[in-house]
Amino acid sequence: MELSTKHMEVFNSFFLVYIEVIIFLSCFNLLGLATGSPVVGGNDTDHQALLQFKAKITGYQLEVMESWNSSIYFCQWRGVTCGRKHQRVTKLELKHLKLSGSLSPYVGNMSFLRELKLQGNRFYSKIPQEIGRLRRLQILDLTNNSISGEIPSNLSACSKLIVVYMGGNQLAGEIPALLGHLSQVKFLSFRNNDLRGSIPPSFGNLSSLEELRLEFNGLTGIIPEALGRLTNLSYFMVVENAISGIFPMAMFNLSNIIAIDIGANKIQGTLHFDLAVTMPNVEFFSIWGNQISGQIPIAVWNASSLNTLQLNNNRLTGNVPSLEKLDKLIVLELHANALGRGREEFLVSFGALKYLNLSFNDFEGLIPSEGVFKNKSATFVEGNNKLCGGIPELHLSRCNSKTSSDTSLKLKVAIIVVILGVALVFSCLLILWFRKKKELPTTTCAENSILQLSYQSILRATDGFSVQNLLGSGSFGSVYKGILEESGAVIAVKVLNLLNRGASRSFLAECEALRNIRHRNLVKVLTAISGVDYRGNDFKALVYEFMENGSLEEWLHQSINRNESDIVRNLSFFQRVNVAIDVAYALEYLHHQCETTIIHCDLKPSNILLDQEMVGHISDFGLAKILSADRLNYSTNQSSSIGLRGTIGYAPPEYGMGSELSTKGDVYSYGILLLEIFTGKRPTDDMFKEGLSIHNFVEAALPEQVIEITDPILLQERARQGTLKEFTLNDKHLQHLNSIFEIGLTCSAESPTERMDMSDVVSKLCSIRVKLLHPTRVHRERQALYIAQSTGT
Ligand SMILES: *[C@@H]1O[C@H](CO)[C@@H](O)[C@H](O)[C@H]1NC(C)=O
Ligand SMILES: *[C@@H]1O[C@H](CO)[C@@H](O)[C@H](O)[C@H]1NC(C)=O
Ligand SMILES: *[C@@H]1O[C@H](CO)[C@@H](O)[C@H](O)[C@H]1NC(C)=O
Ligand SMILES: *[C@@H]1O[C@H](CO)[C@@H](O)[C@H](O)[C@H]1NC(C)=O
Ligand SMILES: *[C@@H]1O[C@H](CO)[C@@H](O)[C@H](O)[C@H]1NC(C)=O
Ligand SMILES: *[C@@H]1O[C@H](CO)[C@@H](O)[C@H](O)[C@H]1NC(C)=O
Ligand SMILES: *[C@@H]1O[C@H](CO)[C@@H](O)[C@H](O)[C@H]1NC(C)=O
Ligand SMILES: *[C@@H]1O[C@H](CO)[C@@H](O)[C@H](O)[C@H]1NC(C)=O
Ligand SMILES: *[C@@H]1O[C@H](CO)[C@@H](O)[C@H](O)[C@H]1NC(C)=O
Repeated sequence: MELSTKHMEVFNSFFLVYIEVIIFLSCFNLLGLATGSPVVGGNDTDHQALLQFKAKITGYQLEVMESWNSSIYFCQWRGVTCGRKHQRVTKLELKHLKLSGSLSPYVGNMSFLRELKLQGNRFYSKIPQEIGRLRRLQILDLTNNSISGEIPSNLSACSKLIVVYMGGNQLAGEIPALLGHLSQVKFLSFRNNDLRGSIPPSFGNLSSLEELRLEFNGLTGIIPEALGRLTNLSYFMVVENAISGIFPMAMFNLSNIIAIDIGANKIQGTLHFDLAVTMPNVEFFSIWGNQISGQIPIAVWNASSLNTLQLNNNRLTGNVPSLEKLDKLIVLELHANALGRGREEFLVSFGALKYLNLSFNDFEGLIPSEGVFKNKSATFVEGNNKLCGGIPELHLSRCNSKTSSDTSLKLKVAIIVVILGVALVFSCLLILWFRKKKELPTTTCAENSILQLSYQSILRATDGFSVQNLLGSGSFGSVYKGILEESGAVIAVKVLNLLNRGASRSFLAECEALRNIRHRNLVKVLTAISGVDYRGNDFKALVYEFMENGSLEEWLHQSINRNESDIVRNLSFFQRVNVAIDVAYALEYLHHQCETTIIHCDLKPSNILLDQEMVGHISDFGLAKILSADRLNYSTNQSSSIGLRGTIGYAPPEYGMGSELSTKGDVYSYGILLLEIFTGKRPTDDMFKEGLSIHNFVEAALPEQVIEITDPILLQERARQGTLKEFTLNDKHLQHLNSIFEIGLTCSAESPTERMDMSDVVSKLCSIRVKLLHPTRVHRERQALYIAQSTGT
């Protein structure tokens, strides 16, 4: 049946002759006069073997083998293929035919057999050891039968085997260690059987192996370290066994891995690996239902090909980073761990995510209503008592601003005001947008900028927006580091995510802002690009000068964001004072010295970047609103807010009540920032709940207990790079700290009218710095030098 057409033609020409001979011989057979081969050519051994094979098949389905009769040459029997010259059986393929019976040991006599495919039948009993005599066998597929007994160890003699599929049977006993001799085997599956014992360490010798599927058995023991030698391995699937021990580190060196599934075993230990680097192609990574503890290595989130990540039902702790390089991720299961403590921002930017289970962890804070969070049937968040927000269907509590003591009436009023506000904002935006649209051609803003850059040059500068160059991302888009080919200048490119509806608004706002804003403490916007990318999609990006030392956030809270191996980076007391002054200067400039008042709206440590000299620069004018002096005076309800109102913890309470954006709102955020810089605590820290806020935490401690609330790192301060050795805060410094905290408190007063102006903040902080410049004799010179360095003066 499987003969080539050419072959068929040859046969056809002989066919008539054959018929006569066959009929003749058949008669002999019937009369018992002949016992030899009924046909010319071929090998009677194979013929006999096939007849024996047929003899073991029982049941009604036998009729599918009707052609297996003496009137037909055996090479033409259904499912039989013979070699053209030697007329020996090379292939026996009878799949999905419901054939029932045992496997005849005579099969072992078909010594030219290369393929034996009997999957999807009802063969039972054991696999005969004689199978080991098939030295030319390359493919053995017995999947989905009812075969019992043990895997024949003689199979190891079939040294040409490439495919061994025995999944979906009732094989018992242990996997023969001798199978480690199958040096050509690429695909090995014993999945879904009843195997016991452990994975033989000899499998480390299966040097061609690409797929190892042992899932759904009763395997025990450990995963042999030797498997780390299988450099071609792409699939390692052992889900649902009883394997213990640790997952060997060596296996993370298998750079061709596409899928790892060790779920539902008894594997212990911690995860110390770098998926992104060691397994660059990994798409499926599942370790669910084990006893794995410790933190999820940050590098896991760098694995850019990953589409399924199942870490659920383990003992994982720690945090989940904004999770942004995984744009192929579709399934993320983190449930039933102890993850998320202190986590306030969520996985908004997961473009492709379709299923997210965060249930029964310690996640807290606001969850968004975008992306996967929009879909109730795709998001599972139950059992995280501190989560709030999200779509109403998730039935989470509303997020409350920490400082406002809300009654439900206040809340309702707030909701109404916010809705009205949003409607207003939207109409203003439309007007604004149309105006801008008229004014600005496709290469918006570029004509006013220092640099003229094209999409192509940005593409080259960022190495095609490679993951290696990704600095971070937020709800408006991703920021990449780039090096301009032309000048070698290092830049930061903020590519606006146009799927996010806020993005274009942010772009226009920033673009407008960049025309006028130049200040030593603002991140310089070099240019803005608007055009079409190579896929024909809209492309908008802002190009900034690059800030070598990252964000203040990373410096204040590095222990959470960094690996243990990273160098410990702390800001000294003086550096903190300097950064605080830098930020104050920048805000004062935005509020009072620009042609139009600029409200930042989203001041927080991650928006403050530090350059090589540790000078602070405010970045991200995505939320900046440009208020002309006219409009400020014009009318109170002429709000043209850009819609977003800052970040929880930093946004002033009145924004939550629907008040319009104001410079006083920025002052509030600045006050919180100041308290954070010197306490080392985020306003969203665990401890701030039930009426306790960072504001009243500091307030309660002043003036006597200032030491209790000061960042412990400052109390044993070691200045960077040995410039100052073991400089400890003295009483005088504590006085100054007190004054600084006072400023922070006044700025973050609940009532906007109580808050001071940024100009006042600047002058107060500067006078504190001057007083700090009268240090003890021993340190004077060094400090002067140090301060000069850090301020860049
Ligand atoms: C048929 O095959 C068997 C087993 O390989 C071999 O011993 C025998 O010589 C072959 N006979 C012929 C006629 O080729
Ligand atoms: C032998 O097989 C052929 C093809 O299936 C069939 O037509 C024929 O009837 C069979 N002969 C016998 C004696 O079963
Ligand atoms: C074929 O296999 C059977 C059973 O394994 C054996 O008894 C027989 O001697 C073998 N040889 C031939 C030529 O059939
Ligand atoms: C075996 O059975 C499983 C479950 O019914 C099915 O998914 C799989 O495709 C089958 N495999 C083969 C080769 O028949
Ligand atoms: C199994 O393999 C052993 C060792 O090669 C051999 O001695 C034995 O005859 C084989 N068994 C069968 C049934 O072929
Ligand atoms: C793997 O192969 C080598 C070389 O053939 C052999 O020395 C070693 O014993 C084998 N390892 C195992 C575990 O079988
Ligand atoms: C992984 O590979 C690297 C580089 O080849 C090697 O230095 C390291 O020892 C390997 N790790 C393990 C656990 O085998
Ligand atoms: C999400 O995780 C929880 C906690 O383990 C579990 O109860 C729930 O069934 C999961 N949801 C889905 C759809 O798998
Ligand atoms: C993630 O990738 C980025 C870019 O390649 C790299 O800078 C960063 O160090 C990586 N993070 C980890 C934890 O490996």
